Amino acid sequence: MSNQSIDKPWGGRFNEPTDAFVEAFTASIGFDKRLYKHDIAGSVAHAQMLGKVGVLSADEVAQILNGLEQVLGEIERGEFEWSVALEDVHMNIEARLTALIGDVGKKLHTGRSRNDQVATDIRLYLRDEIDAISAELKRLQGALLNLAEAEADTIMPGFTHLQTAQPITFGHHMLAWFEMLKRDAGRLVDCRKRVNSLPLGSAALAGTTYPIDREFTAKALGFEAICENSLDAVSDRDFAIEFVAAASLIMTHLSRASEELILWCSAQFNFIELGDSFCTGSSIMPQKKNPDVPELIRGKTGRINGHLVCLLTLMKGQPLAYNKDNQEDKEPLFDTIDNLRGSLKVFADMIPAIKVNREPMREAAIRGFSTATDLADYLVRKGVPFRDAHEIVGKSVNYGIEQGKDLGEMTVEELSQFSDTIQQDVFDVLTLEGSVSARNHLGGTAPQQVRKAVLRGRTWLAG
Ligand code: ARG
Repeated sequence: MSNQSIDKPWGGRFNEPTDAFVEAFTASIGFDKRLYKHDIAGSVAHAQMLGKVGVLSADEVAQILNGLEQVLGEIERGEFEWSVALEDVHMNIEARLTALIGDVGKKLHTGRSRNDQVATDIRLYLRDEIDAISAELKRLQGALLNLAEAEADTIMPGFTHLQTAQPITFGHHMLAWFEMLKRDAGRLVDCRKRVNSLPLGSAALAGTTYPIDREFTAKALGFEAICENSLDAVSDRDFAIEFVAAASLIMTHLSRASEELILWCSAQFNFIELGDSFCTGSSIMPQKKNPDVPELIRGKTGRINGHLVCLLTLMKGQPLAYNKDNQEDKEPLFDTIDNLRGSLKVFADMIPAIKVNREPMREAAIRGFSTATDLADYLVRKGVPFRDAHEIVGKSVNYGIEQGKDLGEMTVEELSQFSDTIQQDVFDVLTLEGSVSARNHLGGTAPQQVRKAVLRGRTWLAG
């Protein structure tokens, strides 16, 4: 005689109840309940499909859809009681459905498994999040274009090795950030295509014996493709890994930009001021205004890189097909989404509130011999070989350091002691404006190019 089965949706073959700690340890309801909307959407499409192929009667489908709508309402009104004993979002919703509509609720799971169900839920959820993140990314890009346009003529020192290199325009610098984010946006578009594929129909691992119509389900859920191997469909989370990799790159770009903002708003640089509402003070040093927002974004990049390594490691040893390991995909994915969305939002809000200190930027560009390359190019245009020109300019700079003068502050007599090729017209190139305007080609720093790039950027954003 068999013992009584335990009170779980899968309790039939069990005689002893789950250990209380194991129940809590294996449950995912604490975090996967955020998938409820997508779980219900997946169930609606699945039930409709079962109706279409005749596995469920029209009346059964109607009852199930009605019940699912009630469950959705209860969740959204905060009335739903989530149960750890019911393990996850899927079984919580199914149990409540059955409580509401009776035995017909138990038919919903026909031809389906939680394995293809959860894979479907994550894909639907991630698809929505990618759309929201892409929109936020574009809002930030729009803010960068506005700032680039407003500061197209603003001159700052450009750096290599964080040493003053050549004058650039601040607008050009903002457009560098814009370009990084443009590639990031492209990565999200690309990743979305592979996310947007239907696992349902794969059931536990091998497919199902019912005459299912996967095209119908795919269409109902807006999937542009169908996962073509059931083992792969329930098992792989590469689409989530790919998303987190794209997220890591976005965060890396935001982190680099943050680092520059932090430097620029220090007293030593004084290139910009961040809006008060994006900074905090010190409890002990009254003079302080700390760039907390960019610092925090720089810091959060670490945890998102960590999530990428976490998911890659989660996947690497798994044999086909589904393993419970995959339940661990959710928290890193969710945390990535939350922090990425938050970082993009605050960055997009912060950019328009930046005050650009044009004078200190200009002075810094003057101080750093940033037109030295222009002087060398001037000599080359007059027939001096580049290596000789390099040497002449090096000597001029050395003299400038001794005399405390920038190249543009020297007289033509002072400059011509290093080469008699140098004449009065040298001052056309030694000015900061002359230097940036001369780099007037696609991708160059000239104000004219910045304005053109802003227009191209706006067209891209609208497209
Ligand atoms: N909570 C599970 C997860 O997130 C759902 C799938 C469970 N499937 C199973 N065969 N135990 O992966």
